[in-house]
Amino acid sequence: MKAIKKKEKRKKVMTVFGTRPEVIKLAPVIRALEEDKSFKSIVVATAQHREMLDQTLEVFGIKPRIDLNLMEKGQQLSCLASRILQSMQNILDAEKPDLLICQGDTTSAFAAGLAAYYNKIPVAHVEAGLRTFDHDHPFPEEGNRQLLSVISTLNFCPTQRARENLVKQAVEEKKIFVTGNTVIDSLLWIASKKYSFKSPILKKLNFSREKVVLVTTHRRENFGISMENTFKAILAIVKKFPDVRFVFPVHLNPNVRKAVNGILGNQERVLLVEPLDYEEFVHLMRRSFLILTDSGGVQEEAPTFGIPVLVLRKVTERAEALEGGNALLIGTKKSDIVDCVSSFLARPERVKDFRNRKNPFGDGKTGQRIKEEIKRFLKKQ
Ligand code: UD1
Ligand code: UDP
Repeated sequence: MKAIKKKEKRKKVMTVFGTRPEVIKLAPVIRALEEDKSFKSIVVATAQHREMLDQTLEVFGIKPRIDLNLMEKGQQLSCLASRILQSMQNILDAEKPDLLICQGDTTSAFAAGLAAYYNKIPVAHVEAGLRTFDHDHPFPEEGNRQLLSVISTLNFCPTQRARENLVKQAVEEKKIFVTGNTVIDSLLWIASKKYSFKSPILKKLNFSREKVVLVTTHRRENFGISMENTFKAILAIVKKFPDVRFVFPVHLNPNVRKAVNGILGNQERVLLVEPLDYEEFVHLMRRSFLILTDSGGVQEEAPTFGIPVLVLRKVTERAEALEGGNALLIGTKKSDIVDCVSSFLARPERVKDFRNRKNPFGDGKTGQRIKEEIKRFLKKQ
């Protein structure tokens, strides 16, 4: 009788994710919740991403209790959002969680948050308050973030700046918590393990003889000319510097794959590889000479290893990395990319300036902090 009573007291917390970066950034929160007996954790995957999600779930050993399997090849934002909203309604009806956690700025995060809000279930938003205040950059992520801030009851901000952004948006201060970014928890956990590459291609890299430049690009606002400019710049740099080798794990989005194959398809010193699992990617990142990226997560991670990040965007919501001297915003003009990368390749000692700069995004203890705030909140309910 007693045991049953105790079980009933456990708070049901539902964590929803859909894409690769959401898993990486929610894994520390899920772990903290599952280690604490006062919670019943329910993990839901929308599977907005299929292959890239599964690859990441495996690294963290996460097995979603519910997998909606919603990805369609070449999916459209509104169709995906409506599939998520409908499916989430059924799940919320069946499970009746006390709180729903979502992360970041994807369609999965926003649609899951909206479904919870419509059902009067409090929403906890992890990585709240990032802003460019430009709805087209990044698109649709800036809109998704702003919308989530309006409907969330708990906003977990990575930095003080993110907190200030929410205050500007008139979010009540009692709903805001500065916790750091969970991505650093995951990164430090992976980086602490001894590792050697699995992929035969990565095994063959000679990091002392060649300057390995890691590239990732997948943002919607960069599709077309901007992305082609980046690829043409890479081609020009390869021709200019015989000791450079680019490694580009190509995102599964068909818009990226088509463009890259057309321009960089047959270059010996440009390795186009499939998306790497998180362990493989982290260890490649830490050994690279430079990183060229439009990724959000990579801008937050690379400073831990002191690797310069050249950001392929017009504007970034991770301004802390620019101010801390961890990253440079270089945009997507071919000549700007060529000039900036060339300046590092011609004067390799420049990378040393980046080595001992502090990572502004977290200390590796964010998952626990978020769990404790959720516990305090649910005790009062
Ligand atoms: C999504 C997020 C973006 C995030 C990125 C992380 C939105 C609107 N965008 O962008 O914020 O930075 O994930 O990578 O939520 N595909 C596969 N297999 C996969 C993944 C994708 O085949 O495992 C292909 C499919 O054809 C899919 C397409 O890529 O339709 C686009 O995927 P989608 O999640 O809609 O957008 P992303 O560009 O991946
Ligand atoms: N990442 C990975 N494998 C790759 C490329 C990236 O595991 O081949 C990781 C990277 O370390 C970061 C996250 O994926 O944590 C970033 O995901 P992505 O760039 O797709 O999305 P964004 O962060 O821009 O939303």
